[in-house]
Amino acid sequence: MSFWPTPDHWSVSIPLHTPHPRLPQLEEHGFVALRDADFVVPTTEYESLEYMDWKSGGDTNFAPIASADGELDCRGFWDKGKTDKDALWTSNAEIAPTVRRYVDSVGANFGRVRIIKLEPQSREDALRSIHRDDNNRFNPEGEGWVVRSWLELTDNPDSYMLLMDNGPDGLPDPATEARVPLHRGARFVVDTQRLWHVVVHNGSAPRYALITSFESGPELERWVDDQRVPVAV
Ligand SMILES: [Fe+2]
Repeated sequence: MSFWPTPDHWSVSIPLHTPHPRLPQLEEHGFVALRDADFVVPTTEYESLEYMDWKSGGDTNFAPIASADGELDCRGFWDKGKTDKDALWTSNAEIAPTVRRYVDSVGANFGRVRIIKLEPQSREDALRSIHRDDNNRFNPEGEGWVVRSWLELTDNPDSYMLLMDNGPDGLPDPATEARVPLHRGARFVVDTQRLWHVVVHNGSAPRYALITSFESGPELERWVDDQRVPVAV
């Protein structure tokens, strides 16, 4: 029997329903796929960054590109009394100009910008780390709900982000499972405070991806509309 979260899992107490304005595009499923990136982030922009030992969602290391105060720090913004937005570029941003330009081009308020380096993990291993994020701690109720966007930097078509919405008990509902493929250039936006998530990485080398926190609002809404995979009619 694989690991499965129980009602005492720390994610269950993270708020799910709040008055914060949400993105309409995430209302139904909690995530939206964007078109593949039409540019490539050079390998040097993620392999030569300074990584910190920080475990989240498996055997991971993170390179902060923007943080609460511009320091190379992986801790939550709340440790500095801040919501996960209004981030400042770190020294890593100078090594990753393509990433910086991309995040700036969205035009929305962003929080943490980080490259994740994830070692391979099977589905069974990954499930042990399934969780929801605490993205909106200290976020004033009238301000936009913080969500996260991904851009896959390495090509892992056999790996996927496993997403599940909540069942009535507040635990992940297997009937809602979705799998987002992680080929190079794949992009998507996820309400990671709502959806349980973890990456199943079936490769033999680390998977790198850019993760950015964005504030929901008209700017992000427009960007998602512009970038999303057209809905078939
Ligand atoms: Fe997460």
